[in-house]
Amino acid sequence: MRILLCYFSGTGNTWWLCNRFKEMAEERGAEVTLRAMDEFLPKGMGAIVSEWCDSDVIGLAYPVHSSDAPPLVYRFLQDVAEGMEDGRRGPEHAFVLTTMQSFSGDGALMLEDGLAKMGVRIRVSRDFRMSPNTGVPFLTFNPLTDEKLERQMARTLAELEGTVDLVVQGKEMRKVQYGSFGRFNGWLQRVGPKWKNRTWRYFGAHPDRCTLCMLCVEQCPTGAIELEGEELRWTPECTDCFRCYNFCPERAVTVKGFAMREGRHRQHIYFRDRGFPPG
Ligand SMILES: Cc1cc2nc3c(=O)[nH]c(=O)nc-3n(C[C@H](O)[C@H](O)[C@H](O)COP(=O)(O)O)c2cc1C
Ligand code: SF4
Ligand code: SF4
Repeated sequence: MRILLCYFSGTGNTWWLCNRFKEMAEERGAEVTLRAMDEFLPKGMGAIVSEWCDSDVIGLAYPVHSSDAPPLVYRFLQDVAEGMEDGRRGPEHAFVLTTMQSFSGDGALMLEDGLAKMGVRIRVSRDFRMSPNTGVPFLTFNPLTDEKLERQMARTLAELEGTVDLVVQGKEMRKVQYGSFGRFNGWLQRVGPKWKNRTWRYFGAHPDRCTLCMLCVEQCPTGAIELEGEELRWTPECTDCFRCYNFCPERAVTVKGFAMREGRHRQHIYFRDRGFPPG
């Protein structure tokens, strides 16, 4: 079975999950190609459309943002669909893996309509609990340590094993967290005050801490941070992934004026040491 797993990961959780998925699926005899969605958007979709059409099953993975997929994921899917307008056909089945902090509602099924238009049906969907990446900067209780992070990842890996089996065996499991309650809450999160395309207004750079090293500008998956004179400016291109906030070496990116507290987040250090974000 040839699996093409396209993922978006803002701060590393989904990247980590997809890499573990690949290892497990390959142990079970599948052939897995991993592709980061943000790699293709600036370069053009030609290569990914060919890989999409040549695979037996499509995997899509993303972090849940307010019970929804980040805007970049929708854009990616739309671009693939446009790339297939010349009549090319892809596989009929997909699976969706999402990562979330605590509650996704029906966030894992948000691509259903877009995929249906491409003739693709979601056969397996599942949320995986991972560490938060938006932690309120001024709350310091219960900080995430490496030990906690690793314990949580071990639990997630145990759940992933079962999901890999379902995908490789071609079985069905569409899981919406807490059933109709999850559906309703997902809907509520989406009609309520939307994060979508709004968070960029709250970002800023701490004038004393920012060294203008440009790392955030280079690593932003959508090129949403611009340098204007001596100041950084966040633009509506932002996909709300919080990468800039989590990976700034000086903790200089602020949200509503607050910078990240020292020791508050660990996963950015954990993943940075293991190669995320790439490049
Ligand atoms: C804008 C935004 C909204 C989020 N909304 C939710 C949510 O509704 N439910 C949830 O459980 N986690 C939520 N999270 C947490 C992320 O889904 C979670 O930390 C995810 O694993 C991050 O994955 P990544 O590191 O691959 O970007 C949100 C994170 C962001 C940045
Ligand atoms: S990564 Fe941090 S220090 Fe570097 S330019 Fe961005 S905000 Fe400034
Ligand atoms: S500006 Fe920051 S939060 Fe927005 S897309 Fe870029 S890295 Fe992600």
